Amino acid sequence: MKIAFVGFGGVGQALAEILEDKKEVLSKQYGLNATVVAVSDMMKGAAYDPDGLNIPQLLTAVREEGRVDAYPNAKEYGLDSLETIKHTNADLIVEVTFTDVQTGQPAIDHCEAAFKHGKSVVTTNKGPVALKLEELQAVANENSCFFGFEGTVMSGTPALRLPKTTLMGNDIYEVVGILNGTTNYILTEMEKGLSFDQALKQAQEFGYAEADPTSDIEGYDVRYKAAILSHYVMGEKVNALDIPCTGIADLTDEMIQSAINENKRWKLLARIRKTDQGVEVRVGPEKIDATHPLASVQGATNAILYECDLSGPIMLTGAGAGLKETGFSLLIDLIHAYQVDQKISVS
Ligand code: HSE
Repeated sequence: MKIAFVGFGGVGQALAEILEDKKEVLSKQYGLNATVVAVSDMMKGAAYDPDGLNIPQLLTAVREEGRVDAYPNAKEYGLDSLETIKHTNADLIVEVTFTDVQTGQPAIDHCEAAFKHGKSVVTTNKGPVALKLEELQAVANENSCFFGFEGTVMSGTPALRLPKTTLMGNDIYEVVGILNGTTNYILTEMEKGLSFDQALKQAQEFGYAEADPTSDIEGYDVRYKAAILSHYVMGEKVNALDIPCTGIADLTDEMIQSAINENKRWKLLARIRKTDQGVEVRVGPEKIDATHPLASVQGATNAILYECDLSGPIMLTGAGAGLKETGFSLLIDLIHAYQVDQKISVS
């Protein structure tokens, strides 16, 4: 499988490193021999070698020189993202550009161009999935391409694949989740006595928060994830901006401490529920009983609870962010794309 990276920040580099470290096991266990043929990054330049770039040399060029085009002996320079998608010999595009979640651009254009050129896409960008899932999936299908986006919700913790595979046959009538690490970290630390500002500062230092933490604090990040879950898992398309959404900014120290005295916890929850009128989606803080399974989820950890008619409640807990974890989410999609392509079954 020949791969091109469009965008090559921390997540793309993490996937490249995983592909290098796991080369033998991927080949032996899954028959997957992945070659990185092209990398194009708006800020760091591009490199292309149809026979395959050397990943350690590529990572050295980026990490030491800050430039993709510092890669030695690259056969072509100056490819922009669309040229890389259209004109290189890649079978699959790893779309990890810096994309505005509200417009989904440039990732939406990249996905569309890739499918039209017969190339599969794996991405961690929420915009294309929250805004254009149906349209992009249709173009992918028309061109027999695979569209993977596992990392858009809970990074490498398989929140999307689990309900679509292992939980099949259940009627999932409600999904409730802690889907933002920054806010769960802040709430956990405030329970221990830290102020909101101190806890936010720590969350930023650990790298959990977005560059502008407003989208974490106000619940906007969760709103896009809830829109993806509603559409992909519950089958109802919603406009993220129509989802009622409250963040954690109005939770005071007193409210948090008095909840503890009542044996309760405040959590920022996404709730997606089937009703007779359709699917209801909302995002906001809820005071839940300390015995509720989501109450024990601490720090930056994410968790999602699927209420199922046959299996009963199933909860998945794990990282919701992190470079290695998000890189892993792309690997899940990549292996899946390969299996779909080859129609092979792996036991
Ligand atoms: N800022 C996000 C979080 C990162 O705190 O969960 C993952 O979307």
